[in-house]
Amino acid sequence: MPETQFDLIVIGAGPGGYVAAIRAAQLGMKTAIVDKEFLGGTCLNIGCIPSKALLDSTHRLSEAQHQLADHGINTGEIKVDLAKMLSRKDAVVKKMVNGVNFLMKKNKIEYFPGAARITGAGMLEVKSAEGTKTLTAGKLLIATGSAPIQIPSFSFDGKRIISSTEALTLPQAPKRMIVIGAGAIGLEMGSVWNRLGTEVIVLEFLDRILPGMDREMTTQFQRMLEKQGIKFYLSTKAEAAKVVGDKVQVTRVTGDQSVVEECDIVLVAVGRKPFTASLGLEQVGVEIDKRGFVRVNPHTYETTVPGIHAIGDVIGGLMLAHKAEEEGVACVEMLAGKAGHVNYRACPNVVYTSPELAQVGLTEEDARKERGEIRVGKFQFLANGRAVAMGEGEGLIKIIGDAKTDRLLGVHILGPHASDLIAEAVVAMEFASSVEDLARSFHAHPTLPEAMKEAALAVEKRAIHM
Ligand code: FAD
Ligand code: NAI
Repeated sequence: MPETQFDLIVIGAGPGGYVAAIRAAQLGMKTAIVDKEFLGGTCLNIGCIPSKALLDSTHRLSEAQHQLADHGINTGEIKVDLAKMLSRKDAVVKKMVNGVNFLMKKNKIEYFPGAARITGAGMLEVKSAEGTKTLTAGKLLIATGSAPIQIPSFSFDGKRIISSTEALTLPQAPKRMIVIGAGAIGLEMGSVWNRLGTEVIVLEFLDRILPGMDREMTTQFQRMLEKQGIKFYLSTKAEAAKVVGDKVQVTRVTGDQSVVEECDIVLVAVGRKPFTASLGLEQVGVEIDKRGFVRVNPHTYETTVPGIHAIGDVIGGLMLAHKAEEEGVACVEMLAGKAGHVNYRACPNVVYTSPELAQVGLTEEDARKERGEIRVGKFQFLANGRAVAMGEGEGLIKIIGDAKTDRLLGVHILGPHASDLIAEAVVAMEFASSVEDLARSFHAHPTLPEAMKEAALAVEKRAIHM
């Protein structure tokens, strides 16, 4: 095969693209990957990883400020070296990106830095500073991800009106920040800067935070965030912004009340949109939907052009790294003649604040609509020995089961290490477990997962410790 000809070329080296490339190489395909910016995509460079690095650093700060004294540990005055915190975050990103580079080499995947444009079925042009290359392949996989949505009157200027990308690199903590949108980015980045001393005000269009997550859990979660100092205005529209010197005046409208609020930074976090600019989709006949997502067959991930597939953020659904990865693997396995399948019902969703909020499966509202009769069990962390020993007794686990079949329908966790605890529920969902299966399984004592067993027991109203 000539050097520029491949079995598969992946466009976009985010978690969807690079994982698909590795799986393709494992399956014996001669594989190439193209990225216009960086290996690792949004997730490793300007998303999941840097945000978690800052969340972790500021969580430690908050523990030192508010919790260590309870353990009898006196630290004296606590000082923040923000420059060091940011450079640690950058080092974490670098390590992860180097890891992807190593994996590309290990799996003999050829990496072409540059912007790709599809010129025909199996044909690609890659433009970089070094010039333009033409590559060909039996199959193409589009994994070009997403970009932040802009809203009218709040055009990003990168300084005062910013997206999550700039919120990861602010050189000093602003005095006052207005966050537009109470989704995962708003709450995670809001938490980071709130912990660093910024007064954070969140404006949300809907009457609740985190649409898509269980309402009872998010209501309790909002109260916890408010106790940490974050202020929320729900059912509120961010109408206009005016930059005056080094301040921004934001008009927020709730009902017929309009208030002008001054701040140093506005973080616009109202969602992300598919990124397909300059890919040449129209010329080759790859269809996109009204919102710009690439249309695919939901079982095979093939676009409207045979031989061109797409996965990850660019096709819509939950915009999560692990969702992109699973789609990439399933798609490539099918290309190799194997059975590939993604069970979206078992896809977890986590907000990495403090405490964390995690869910898998149906919310209580959706379960009632879909199944009619359901049973709900709850267990509070304040009755879990390990949580109390850790001084983290706030929050609960809620389990939803089908009233007739006892099938596990959904699990919701608000509390310490929810992001880790949800893994047990994901496996249970994948195995189509009953609630009783969870209730009858051993859970080591004293551990946080015991709260999962207790919540499952609570579905039958027989929790032991509550
Ligand atoms: P991306 O990661 O966006 O990668 C797409 C790649 O394609 C990019 O590298 C881009 O440069 C490249 N590309 C685009 N067009 C071209 C072209 N024409 N030619 C060549 N290359 C091209 N998700 C989680 O699951 N957990 C989290 O904790 C989490 N935290 C997040 C925090 C933030 C601040 C943000 C913004 C997002 C977060 N996400 C998180 C979402 C997650 O980053 C995305 O769901 C994920 O990156 C999607 O992966 P992808 O492979 O589809 O696309
Ligand atoms: P989002 O879609 O999660 O939340 C956006 C919020 O903004 C919604 O609550 C919406 O009602 C609100 N909104 C929309 N327009 C508005 C307006 N004009 N005024 C006020 N509020 C408005 O989007 P977000 O937080 O920007 O995140 C983008 C994507 O990145 C999401 O799909 C998310 O899943 C992913 N992500 C995931 C993380 C995780 O898994 N922990 C962390 C960060 C991002």
